[in-house]
Formats: sequence, structure tokens, C-alpha cells
Amino acid sequence: MKAILCTRFGGPDDLEFKDLPDPAPGAGEVVVAVKSAALNFFDTLIIAGKYQVKPPFPFSPAAEFAGVVESVGAGVTGLSAGDRVLGYGGFGAAREKVQIAAQRVVKIPDALDFDRAAGVTVIYGTTLHALKDRARLKSGETLAVLGASGGTGLAAIEIGKLMGARVIACASSDDKLAFCRERGADDTINYAKEDVKEGLRRVTGGKGVDVIYDPVGGPYAEAALRSIAWGGRFLVIGFAAGEIPKIPLNLALLKGCDIVGVFWGAFIERDPKGHQANMAELVRWAAAARISAHVHGVYPLEQTPQALRAIADRKVMGKVILRP
Ligand SMILES: NC(=O)c1ccc[n+]([C@@H]2O[C@H](COP(=O)([O-])OP(=O)(O)OC[C@H]3O[C@@H](n4cnc5c(N)ncnc54)[C@H](OP(=O)(O)O)[C@@H]3O)[C@@H](O)[C@H]2O)c1
Repeated sequence: MKAILCTRFGGPDDLEFKDLPDPAPGAGEVVVAVKSAALNFFDTLIIAGKYQVKPPFPFSPAAEFAGVVESVGAGVTGLSAGDRVLGYGGFGAAREKVQIAAQRVVKIPDALDFDRAAGVTVIYGTTLHALKDRARLKSGETLAVLGASGGTGLAAIEIGKLMGARVIACASSDDKLAFCRERGADDTINYAKEDVKEGLRRVTGGKGVDVIYDPVGGPYAEAALRSIAWGGRFLVIGFAAGEIPKIPLNLALLKGCDIVGVFWGAFIERDPKGHQANMAELVRWAAAARISAHVHGVYPLEQTPQALRAIADRKVMGKVILRP
């Protein structure tokens, strides 16, 4: 089979496109023929050795995929060859076939195509956990989303609307904000043109925002926190801007707010049942088109470097898909 391999830490152009022997499933495992694999921002970090997870070399990037079960190992129940599934392995999906523990894949209905299914797990799984389990977002509350046209940001707009929030999308260009409105955002702030703090105060009539979803960090985090409402929740999702902000803690005191960490990768290990319930909900929503899993672009497997560069260059709206 063909595979994209990271054999040493580096940039997208250091990846290698190679042949590997076909895998066979061990006990409790399945082999899935990958139809679509999805990239995330953290793939740009994992190949550079800058992510919290450092897989042994050689490894393939792409944490998630959708495809067809090709073979099942001893002891596997509930899955058989020919089943359409999506799956999450943390890394390793940029290849034609994935060998993975059976409990890491979920069957998908025919209504959900492989490109959209591949990108559901990470962005929507993180966001449902963040908004429901961590922020306890309530209907009628305001939700500000930074980096709102990116993968996690798009998921926050859509799940925020499904939970009944008024969503304020914040992003760096008018094109990105138009896309956010199409996906359901009620208000928009272009933080390349307007200070986030002033913008959030303006659109909330001075009251401030109940929940802030921040996958960007950098200079935007503190500015956004300065306009949080009394009793608000600030969700720490990620640091796509590269800089991990150092927040003056007196802000949490003065606002009577919570700064809430979100670590989805640890959540799925610590609460597998909660994760399974969230995934069942997300697959239903995706099949019914209640969440879009919007595909920005599809690249052939050998063009994985170009796909990763598009993410790093801040050009992507929604998901980037690889097709082996
Ligand atoms: N906590 C968790 O459990 C968890 C789970 C999944 C992902 N994450 C993290 O969440 C972050 C976002 O992931 P994602 O998949 O949503 O990424 P993405 O699709 O690439 O979106 C990130 C957004 O960040 C903004 N941005 C600002 N400065 C940037 C820069 N220098 N480079 C790239 N983007 C920049 C961009 O929007 P603008 O141009 O509009 O600013 C971009 O749309 C990552 O740090 C990822 O590791 C965390």
C-alpha cells in the first residue's frame, strides 16, 4: 500500500511517499481501506515534533479517516468486512489501509459520504465536549468563537447554534466571516480590522460574552477575555497563532468568570462512554446535515505537503481531506 511517512521531524516537504506491506488485523483489531483521511492543524505540529504526542518513526500524519472495513481480527464483534466506518487513531491515517483497534471505529449510515465523515471526529468531538461538558452552554447565551472559519471554529458555530446560543464569529478576513454567516453565525467581528475587546462589547451592547471559544491564542485571547460577561466561561482550546498567552489572573477575579481547559484527547481515554455517546450524536447530526463537516479541499495522498501548507498558511475554511 501507499503511505505518507514522517521519518524525521521537519516541515511538510520532509514527508516521504512510500510503499509499505499491507497490514493484517491482530486480535481485537480491524483493517480499514481508507477512502478519505482528514488533516487537522495539529498535523502541522506533529510532523515538526512540536505536538504533545510524538509517535515513533516512521509514522503517518492524519488522525482520522473514513473507509470500508476490509478484514476483522479474532474476537471482534459488531463489525464485518464491507462495513462503512469512520475512525480516530490520533495519527497514522495518511495511507491506503489502517490497522486499528475495533473500538476506535464507528459505523456510519449511507447518507454520510466518506469525505465529510472523515473530518467529524476531532473538530466536532472536541467542540461538543467543550460546549456541553465543559462550558455547559445554555440556550439564549452568547458564544464568541475565535478562528471561527477554521475546523474547530466552524464546529463551534454549528454546535453553538444547535444548542440555542447567539453566535459571534471572529476571524481575520471578510471572506472568512461571510463563510461563517453561511454556516449560521449571527454576528461577526473582523479582528484584523477591529480590536476583539471593543468588537465583543459592541455586539453584546456592553454586557459582554457568556462563553468564549478560543482555538487561536496569541494576542486575541486576553483581548477577548477582557470582554467576557459576569459568570462567563473562557474555553482554552488551542494556540494556532503559535503563542501561548499568559493571562493576568486578576481578570478572572474581576469578571467572576471561569477559565476552562479543554483536552479532548485525554477526555476520550478517561471517559470512553461519554465519548461514545457524543460520537453517536455527531454521526446522527452529520447524516441529517445538521452539522456540515464542510470540506474546504480534497488532495490526493501524494499532495499531503500542499494540504498541510494550506493549513499552516491560514488559507483553509473547514476541513482538508486526503484521498488515497
Ligand atoms: N483542546 C483540544 O482538545 C483540541 C482539539 C483539537 C484541536 N485543538 C487545537 O485547536 C487549534 C485549532 O485547530 P483547527 O483544526 O481548528 O485549526 P485550523 O482549521 O487551522 O483553524 C485555526 C484558525 O486559527 C487562526 N489563526 C490565527 N493565527 C494563525 C496562524 N499563525 N496559523 C494558522 N492559523 C491561525 C486562523 O483563522 P483566522 O485567519 O481567521 O485568524 C485559522 O482559521 C490548534 O491549536 C489545535 O491543536 C485542540
